[in-house]
Amino acid sequence: MAIKTDVSPLGQRSAWQALKKHHAEIGKKHMSELFAEDGSRGERYTAEAGGIFLDYSKNRVNDETLKLLVQLAEESGLKARTEAMFTGEKINITENRAVLHVALRAPKSESIVVDGEDVVPAVHEVLEKMSGFADKIRSGEWKGHTGKKIKNIVNIGIGGSDLGPVMAYEALKHYSQRDLTFRFVSNVDGTDFAEAVQDLEADETLFLVASKTFTTLETMTNAHSARDWALDSLKDDSAVAKHFVAISTNAKEVGKFGIDTANMFGFWDWVGGRYSMDSAIGLSTMIAIGPDNFMAMLGGFHDMDVHFRTTPLEKNLPVLMGLLTVWYTDFFDAQTMAVLPYEQYLKRFPAYLQQLTMESNGKHVTLSGEHVETETGPIYWGEPGTNGQHSFYQLIHQGTRLIPCDFIGFYKGLNPLGRHHDMLMANVFAQAEALAFGKTAEQVKAEGVAAELVPHKVFEGNRPSNTILADQLTPAVLGKLVALYEHAVFTQGVVWGIDSFDQWGVELGKVLATRILGEIEGADGPKGHDSSTTSLIERYRANK
Ligand code: F6P
Repeated sequence: MAIKTDVSPLGQRSAWQALKKHHAEIGKKHMSELFAEDGSRGERYTAEAGGIFLDYSKNRVNDETLKLLVQLAEESGLKARTEAMFTGEKINITENRAVLHVALRAPKSESIVVDGEDVVPAVHEVLEKMSGFADKIRSGEWKGHTGKKIKNIVNIGIGGSDLGPVMAYEALKHYSQRDLTFRFVSNVDGTDFAEAVQDLEADETLFLVASKTFTTLETMTNAHSARDWALDSLKDDSAVAKHFVAISTNAKEVGKFGIDTANMFGFWDWVGGRYSMDSAIGLSTMIAIGPDNFMAMLGGFHDMDVHFRTTPLEKNLPVLMGLLTVWYTDFFDAQTMAVLPYEQYLKRFPAYLQQLTMESNGKHVTLSGEHVETETGPIYWGEPGTNGQHSFYQLIHQGTRLIPCDFIGFYKGLNPLGRHHDMLMANVFAQAEALAFGKTAEQVKAEGVAAELVPHKVFEGNRPSNTILADQLTPAVLGKLVALYEHAVFTQGVVWGIDSFDQWGVELGKVLATRILGEIEGADGPKGHDSSTTSLIERYRANK
């Protein structure tokens, strides 16, 4: 599949060529010099949208860099591609699909037409159905097979049907109904399911089977085990109707599994798995925090959508963040990006972003099917601060690799406790400062450090970071943060000229696993593999 675009190949865009030359100069400059040259940099290199504040001054850029990066976005057709996405054009070309996660948070008054049909009314219909259901679970009106209230909600899904729900549940736990227990099962490793249900009673447990396709091996295996587990205790097939609901685009497979399609919450092929936490896939989130909070989260997503679509590129948060990622990936050979939330509730945010960023932009061919000319999607990773400081920050500060960091912090914590929050935030500012400016040999010597130790105590600095600040982690702020990264990923994909919305790279392993499973369980054993794979399978068969 290839499409013709009127955008020239990346290396031929004039902004790209100018950036190359520009990098030869600025790449050698230290951030201390950049700050010395421009005392207002800390105020000027900032942008804000709906209470999300971005300080990008601690990056290896100056006015010229930013001008050229914005020009690169323009030459890459970012504005046209953004409009194409928002208006439902089929920009996921390899799957011939529209990419409309923005429709999931569009207000009722908007209209977005795909294949001649306005999709917004259907989105709100599902939201209403979800709200009615969530209220019934939260109030105890929905009874299980034996007449007991539902106390436990177990989401079964994987990838986008798991990471978004888990991340959002953890992020918004503060707002959750505490007499409900939430568990998330994703791994086909039986331990995941066994541990999730080991202390639960089947007659108080509701399973949400979340799968866009309803054919994913891990999810269907776990869903069947869940049904066996529930029926083992409830002893009546009709109990499935009270203890299982499905979230899917595939009504046929849902029916085959035995879930009444009246208990199905639908979504559409134009919602990518990794962009689906604000669709029906977010049902567990809505049950946990309630429909009003869920709607507030969607409002936050929508605010960032409007900002991204309408704000000039040089003041546009997702565009700036996306372009800075391209800058480091392609001009500084940065291989990874660290996301460091200083908010315990965001502990699963880096894991969530890994799928969003790497499944989207881990691509080696352009839209026209050519091999890309540059590096594409970097590796995203991270842990909440301050824990990371006592583990991997050493390498970020004094290692040999350049790792741009996103620090995320809040003016107010959700659990005020003595000086904890000030201490937490002092660490955000300290880390960003230390990374940028480091400590010279002269400074170390001036502290009276023994000569032989001086090199060990030098911090070279010049390590870039963004600092993202917001008032407090609310449902709306979470929506804004997720949409910020979604659109930053989109911006990168447009510059690289890749399809950020397919994921063919997960297919080969799936196909091979199915074949190997047959060989593990069959009488004949492995056939037609390389010598390593063959002997590994044989060893497993002999020892299992
Ligand atoms: O890993 C591939 C993938 O297709 C993801 O994109 C998706 O989020 C996940 O599998 C789960 O898919 P489904 O929701 O169809 O079960």
